[in-house]
Amino acid sequence: MLNVVIFGAPGSGKGTQSENLIKKYNLAHISTGDVLRSEMKNGTKLGKLAEDYISKGQLVPDDVIIGMLADVLETKKGSNGVIFDGFPRTLAQGEALDQMLSEKGQSVSTVISLEVDEPELIDRLLKRGQQSGRSDDNLETIKSRLDVYNNQTSPLKEYYKTSGKLASIKGVGTVDEIFGRISEVIDNLK
Ligand code: AP5
Ligand code: MG
Repeated sequence: MLNVVIFGAPGSGKGTQSENLIKKYNLAHISTGDVLRSEMKNGTKLGKLAEDYISKGQLVPDDVIIGMLADVLETKKGSNGVIFDGFPRTLAQGEALDQMLSEKGQSVSTVISLEVDEPELIDRLLKRGQQSGRSDDNLETIKSRLDVYNNQTSPLKEYYKTSGKLASIKGVGTVDEIFGRISEVIDNLK
Protein backbone atom coordinates (compact mmCIF):
# COMPACT_ATOMS: atom_id res chain seq x y z
CA MET A 1 0.00 0.00 0.00
CA LEU A 2 1.34 3.36 -1.04
CA ASN A 3 -0.17 6.19 0.99
CA VAL A 4 1.22 9.50 -0.22
CA VAL A 5 0.48 12.84 1.40
CA ILE A 6 0.98 15.65 -1.10
CA PHE A 7 1.66 18.69 1.00
CA GLY A 8 2.22 22.38 0.29
CA ALA A 9 0.89 25.90 0.32
CA PRO A 10 -2.11 26.98 -1.76
CA GLY A 11 -1.03 26.99 -5.41
CA SER A 12 2.06 24.83 -4.83
CA GLY A 13 0.83 22.26 -7.37
CA LYS A 14 -0.77 19.56 -5.19
CA GLY A 15 -3.69 19.02 -7.57
CA THR A 16 -1.54 19.21 -10.71
CA GLN A 17 1.01 16.66 -9.44
CA SER A 18 -1.73 14.40 -8.04
CA GLU A 19 -3.04 13.89 -11.58
CA ASN A 20 0.35 12.56 -12.68
CA LEU A 21 0.71 10.40 -9.57
CA ILE A 22 -2.70 8.78 -10.07
CA LYS A 23 -1.71 7.68 -13.57
CA LYS A 24 1.83 6.50 -12.86
CA TYR A 25 1.18 4.63 -9.61
CA ASN A 26 -2.48 3.71 -10.09
CA LEU A 27 -3.60 5.32 -6.85
CA ALA A 28 -6.90 6.65 -5.57
CA HIS A 29 -7.04 10.41 -4.99
CA ILE A 30 -8.68 12.26 -2.13
CA SER A 31 -8.65 16.05 -2.36
CA THR A 32 -10.58 17.45 0.58
CA GLY A 33 -10.88 20.79 -1.29
CA ASP A 34 -12.46 19.04 -4.31
CA VAL A 35 -14.86 17.11 -2.04
CA LEU A 36 -15.93 20.35 -0.33
CA ARG A 37 -16.38 22.18 -3.64
CA SER A 38 -18.55 19.38 -4.95
CA GLU A 39 -20.67 19.50 -1.76
CA MET A 40 -21.01 23.27 -2.26
CA LYS A 41 -22.10 22.77 -5.87
CA ASN A 42 -24.72 20.26 -4.77
CA GLY A 43 -25.95 22.61 -2.03
CA THR A 44 -25.64 20.01 0.75
CA LYS A 45 -25.55 20.85 4.44
CA LEU A 46 -21.80 20.23 4.51
CA GLY A 47 -21.39 22.40 1.41
CA LYS A 48 -23.28 25.26 2.99
CA LEU A 49 -21.19 25.03 6.14
CA ALA A 50 -17.92 24.93 4.17
CA GLU A 51 -18.76 27.86 1.89
CA ASP A 52 -18.19 30.51 4.53
CA TYR A 53 -14.80 29.15 5.60
CA ILE A 54 -13.56 28.61 2.05
CA SER A 55 -14.49 32.05 0.76
CA LYS A 56 -12.65 33.61 3.72
CA GLY A 57 -9.62 31.35 3.27
CA GLN A 58 -10.12 29.77 6.70
CA LEU A 59 -9.94 26.07 7.52
CA VAL A 60 -13.15 24.07 7.88
CA PRO A 61 -13.23 22.77 11.51
CA ASP A 62 -11.20 19.62 12.22
CA ASP A 63 -14.11 17.45 13.42
CA VAL A 64 -16.06 18.12 10.21
CA ILE A 65 -13.08 17.43 7.94
CA ILE A 66 -11.91 14.34 9.82
CA GLY A 67 -15.40 12.80 9.68
CA MET A 68 -15.65 13.58 5.97
CA LEU A 69 -12.21 12.10 5.27
CA ALA A 70 -13.08 8.88 7.10
CA ASP A 71 -16.23 8.50 4.96
CA VAL A 72 -14.39 9.12 1.69
CA LEU A 73 -11.52 6.81 2.69
CA GLU A 74 -14.05 3.98 3.12
CA THR A 75 -15.03 4.36 -0.56
CA LYS A 76 -11.38 3.83 -1.64
CA LYS A 77 -11.08 0.37 -0.13
CA GLY A 78 -9.37 -2.09 -2.46
CA SER A 79 -7.18 0.55 -4.13
CA ASN A 80 -3.38 0.28 -4.40
CA GLY A 81 -3.09 3.21 -2.06
CA VAL A 82 -4.24 6.77 -1.72
CA ILE A 83 -2.93 10.25 -2.47
CA PHE A 84 -4.04 12.63 0.25
CA ASP A 85 -4.20 16.11 -1.32
CA GLY A 86 -4.92 19.01 1.03
CA PHE A 87 -5.24 16.75 4.06
CA PRO A 88 -3.90 16.78 6.75
CA ARG A 89 -3.74 20.54 7.35
CA THR A 90 -3.49 20.64 11.17
CA LEU A 91 -1.71 18.52 13.74
CA ALA A 92 -5.09 17.10 14.87
CA GLN A 93 -5.77 15.98 11.28
CA GLY A 94 -2.31 14.44 11.01
CA GLU A 95 -2.85 12.42 14.17
CA ALA A 96 -6.33 11.39 13.01
CA LEU A 97 -4.92 10.17 9.69
CA ASP A 98 -2.27 8.07 11.44
CA GLN A 99 -4.99 6.58 13.62
CA MET A 100 -7.34 5.80 10.71
CA LEU A 101 -4.59 4.16 8.68
CA SER A 102 -3.23 2.17 11.61
CA GLU A 103 -6.71 0.73 12.21
CA LYS A 104 -6.39 -0.70 8.70
CA GLY A 105 -2.85 -1.96 9.36
CA GLN A 106 -1.44 0.81 7.18
CA SER A 107 0.56 4.00 7.54
CA VAL A 108 1.62 7.12 5.66
CA SER A 109 4.39 6.05 3.24
CA THR A 110 5.78 9.51 2.50
CA VAL A 111 4.92 13.19 2.70
CA ILE A 112 5.91 15.13 -0.40
CA SER A 113 6.19 18.80 0.49
CA LEU A 114 6.20 21.09 -2.55
CA GLU A 115 8.28 24.19 -1.75
CA VAL A 116 7.34 27.31 -3.71
CA ASP A 117 8.02 30.95 -2.77
CA GLU A 118 5.09 33.25 -1.99
CA PRO A 119 5.30 35.64 -4.96
CA GLU A 120 5.12 32.61 -7.31
CA LEU A 121 2.16 31.15 -5.36
CA ILE A 122 0.26 34.44 -5.56
CA ASP A 123 1.04 34.77 -9.26
CA ARG A 124 -0.21 31.24 -10.04
CA LEU A 125 -3.42 31.64 -8.02
CA LEU A 126 -4.27 35.06 -9.46
CA LYS A 127 -3.77 33.66 -12.97
CA ARG A 128 -6.00 30.69 -12.20
CA GLY A 129 -8.56 33.03 -10.62
CA GLN A 130 -9.17 34.62 -14.01
CA GLN A 131 -11.07 31.50 -15.11
CA SER A 132 -11.43 29.11 -12.16
CA GLY A 133 -14.58 30.61 -10.67
CA ARG A 134 -13.19 29.59 -7.25
CA SER A 135 -14.46 31.97 -4.58
CA ASP A 136 -11.03 31.86 -2.90
CA ASP A 137 -8.86 32.79 -5.90
CA ASN A 138 -8.75 36.56 -5.21
CA LEU A 139 -5.90 38.52 -3.66
CA GLU A 140 -7.52 39.12 -0.27
CA THR A 141 -8.49 35.47 0.24
CA ILE A 142 -5.19 34.20 -1.19
CA LYS A 143 -3.37 36.23 1.50
CA SER A 144 -5.43 34.70 4.29
CA ARG A 145 -4.96 31.20 2.81
CA LEU A 146 -1.19 31.79 2.90
CA ASP A 147 -1.36 33.03 6.53
CA VAL A 148 -3.40 29.98 7.51
CA TYR A 149 -0.89 27.72 5.77
CA ASN A 150 2.07 29.37 7.54
CA ASN A 151 0.46 29.38 10.99
CA GLN A 152 -1.64 26.21 11.12
CA THR A 153 -0.46 23.84 8.39
CA SER A 154 3.29 24.21 7.91
CA PRO A 155 4.01 23.14 11.56
CA LEU A 156 2.97 19.65 10.39
CA LYS A 157 6.29 19.46 8.54
CA GLU A 158 8.02 19.13 11.90
CA TYR A 159 5.65 16.28 12.81
CA TYR A 160 6.56 14.34 9.67
CA LYS A 161 10.24 15.23 9.89
CA THR A 162 10.33 13.64 13.32
CA SER A 163 8.87 10.41 11.96
CA GLY A 164 11.33 10.49 9.02
CA LYS A 165 8.58 10.79 6.42
CA LEU A 166 9.10 14.31 5.12
CA ALA A 167 10.47 14.72 1.60
CA SER A 168 10.86 18.39 0.68
CA ILE A 169 10.86 18.96 -3.07
CA LYS A 170 11.58 22.10 -5.07
CA GLY A 171 8.13 22.92 -6.47
CA VAL A 172 9.31 25.42 -9.07
CA GLY A 173 10.11 24.46 -12.68
CA THR A 174 8.04 22.67 -15.30
CA VAL A 175 5.30 20.27 -14.17
CA ASP A 176 7.33 17.38 -15.65
CA GLU A 177 10.55 18.39 -13.89
CA ILE A 178 8.75 18.51 -10.56
CA PHE A 179 7.04 15.21 -11.23
CA GLY A 180 10.47 13.68 -11.93
CA ARG A 181 11.64 14.78 -8.46
CA ILE A 182 8.51 13.34 -6.83
CA SER A 183 8.82 10.02 -8.68
CA GLU A 184 12.40 9.67 -7.52
CA VAL A 185 11.27 9.89 -3.88
CA ILE A 186 8.47 7.36 -4.38
CA ASP A 187 10.61 4.93 -6.38
CA ASN A 188 13.18 4.94 -3.59
CA LEU A 189 10.71 3.98 -0.84
CA LYS A 190 11.44 0.59 0.60
P1 AP5 B 1 -7.76 23.22 -1.48
O1 AP5 B 1 -8.70 22.94 -2.55
O2 AP5 B 1 -6.95 22.13 -0.93
O3 AP5 B 1 -6.87 24.43 -1.97
P2 AP5 B 1 -5.39 24.92 -1.60
O4 AP5 B 1 -4.62 24.12 -0.67
O5 AP5 B 1 -5.58 26.35 -1.24
O6 AP5 B 1 -4.61 24.75 -2.89
P3 AP5 B 1 -5.02 24.80 -4.39
O7 AP5 B 1 -5.93 23.71 -4.74
O8 AP5 B 1 -5.44 26.20 -4.73
O9 AP5 B 1 -3.58 24.62 -5.03
P4 AP5 B 1 -2.78 23.28 -5.38
O10 AP5 B 1 -1.62 23.14 -4.45
O11 AP5 B 1 -3.68 22.12 -5.58
O12 AP5 B 1 -2.16 23.73 -6.76
P5 AP5 B 1 -2.69 23.46 -8.24
O13 AP5 B 1 -2.15 22.19 -8.77
O14 AP5 B 1 -4.14 23.71 -8.33
O15 AP5 B 1 -8.56 23.89 -0.25
C1 AP5 B 1 -9.46 24.95 -0.45
C2 AP5 B 1 -10.14 25.31 0.86
O16 AP5 B 1 -10.94 24.20 1.31
C3 AP5 B 1 -9.22 25.63 2.05
O17 AP5 B 1 -8.80 26.99 2.06
C4 AP5 B 1 -10.12 25.29 3.23
O18 AP5 B 1 -11.07 26.33 3.45
C5 AP5 B 1 -10.90 24.07 2.73
N1 AP5 B 1 -10.18 22.80 3.07
C6 AP5 B 1 -9.67 21.89 2.18
N2 AP5 B 1 -9.07 20.88 2.83
C7 AP5 B 1 -9.18 21.16 4.15
C8 AP5 B 1 -8.72 20.51 5.33
N3 AP5 B 1 -8.00 19.37 5.27
N4 AP5 B 1 -9.02 21.07 6.53
C9 AP5 B 1 -9.74 22.22 6.61
N5 AP5 B 1 -10.20 22.90 5.54
C10 AP5 B 1 -9.91 22.37 4.31
O19 AP5 B 1 -1.90 24.64 -9.01
C11 AP5 B 1 -2.23 26.00 -8.82
C12 AP5 B 1 -2.12 26.74 -10.16
O20 AP5 B 1 -0.76 26.75 -10.57
C13 AP5 B 1 -2.88 26.06 -11.31
O21 AP5 B 1 -3.44 27.04 -12.14
C14 AP5 B 1 -1.80 25.25 -12.04
O22 AP5 B 1 -2.09 25.07 -13.40
C15 AP5 B 1 -0.57 26.11 -11.82
N6 AP5 B 1 0.66 25.32 -11.73
C16 AP5 B 1 0.81 24.08 -11.18
N7 AP5 B 1 2.09 23.68 -11.28
C17 AP5 B 1 2.76 24.69 -11.89
C18 AP5 B 1 4.13 24.86 -12.27
N8 AP5 B 1 5.06 23.92 -12.04
N9 AP5 B 1 4.49 26.03 -12.86
C19 AP5 B 1 3.54 27.01 -13.11
N10 AP5 B 1 2.23 26.89 -12.78
C20 AP5 B 1 1.85 25.74 -12.18
MG1 MG C 1 -5.76 21.74 -5.16
